[in-house]
Amino acid sequence: MEIKYIKNQNPGKMPDEDSLGFGKYFTDHMFIMDYSTEKGWHDARIVPFENLSIHPACTALHYGSEIFEGLKAYRRADGEVQLFRPMENIRRMNNSAERLCLPEIPEDMAFEALTAFVRSEKDWTPHKKGTSLYLRPFMFGNDETLGVHAVHKATFVIIASPVGSYYKEGINPVKIMIEADDVRAVRGGTGYAKCGGNYAASNRAGKKAEEKGYAQVLWLDGVERKYIEEVGAMNVMFKIAGKIVTPMLSGSILPGVTRKSCIEVLKKAGYTVEERLLSVEELGNALKDGTLEEAWGCGTAAVVSPIGELCYKDVKYTINDGMIGTVTQKLYDTLTGIQWGEIEDTFGWTCIVK
Ligand code: PLP
Ligand code: COI
Repeated sequence: MEIKYIKNQNPGKMPDEDSLGFGKYFTDHMFIMDYSTEKGWHDARIVPFENLSIHPACTALHYGSEIFEGLKAYRRADGEVQLFRPMENIRRMNNSAERLCLPEIPEDMAFEALTAFVRSEKDWTPHKKGTSLYLRPFMFGNDETLGVHAVHKATFVIIASPVGSYYKEGINPVKIMIEADDVRAVRGGTGYAKCGGNYAASNRAGKKAEEKGYAQVLWLDGVERKYIEEVGAMNVMFKIAGKIVTPMLSGSILPGVTRKSCIEVLKKAGYTVEERLLSVEELGNALKDGTLEEAWGCGTAAVVSPIGELCYKDVKYTINDGMIGTVTQKLYDTLTGIQWGEIEDTFGWTCIVK
């Protein structure tokens, strides 16, 4: 694939690495590629970061034809920059595209786009512990007409943002509210796809939770509002009576790359991992009888994030005395150790971008 390169003549400066936060700063360039049914994917280019110009009838603005991904480039101790399981994100993006009738991108083309872009923005990968360069590939339908149909024109973009921790709590336990009214997704809907609409539907409950002092919402299934699904921006896992329990991939939750990686790390360490239905009632009973030992969320932005308190219908439950549990800490150390190149990657998950 030919990728045109236009250098930014006014490059920016890396902000203070101690106060990066999440998604506030952007690098000097972005990758863009266009699609039309006649030409397929074409005009791949890395250009200075700037506003996009779109037609007011653009499909994404009216009918939500938009999907995205999230992955990170990590600065290794030896100075190299590496990606973590990028093919997983590329495959999931194509699954999301298929669900929303957006055009898929051949895997080798998407990988080339991603690595060429990371190579171009590499110097923006921060060095401080716990920081990384967050990569946000996204695609939107770009037809310039108001009819509702599968798109004929689309745009694929990758932007990058040097980030610190997603939650202000960092690795300290977060408080999560179980949402009893709104639902995020239903089976047969778009829950398993990473599309903007899922997040728009989440905002009302997220706002309510935030006003009550909770970091995010824990969703229940959309039909019976009985089974645990996932948190706003992460999958969720529990240690109950020595076993790890996580909601199974039913079609309405996002198949997280971090979730998959946690399961593989845990199984390798000898834990029993059950991917199954977990009702809020079972969780409540485990909280009451003391068998709920640990709870954590996992996601690219959130990494592994301990849950210290759950609230359901105004009743508050403290987990593990509000402290990070040993399995949660071990998972965090193992995953981040592999991601930052501090421990040997025996799984073959990382890929250095030279
Ligand atoms: N669930 C939701 C709703 C998310 O937004 C994310 C974040 O991407 C995850 C789960 C975790 O997925 P991953 O580990 O691939 O980042
Ligand atoms: C990620 O973890 O990459 C996400 O996409 C979460 C995001 C919604 C902030």
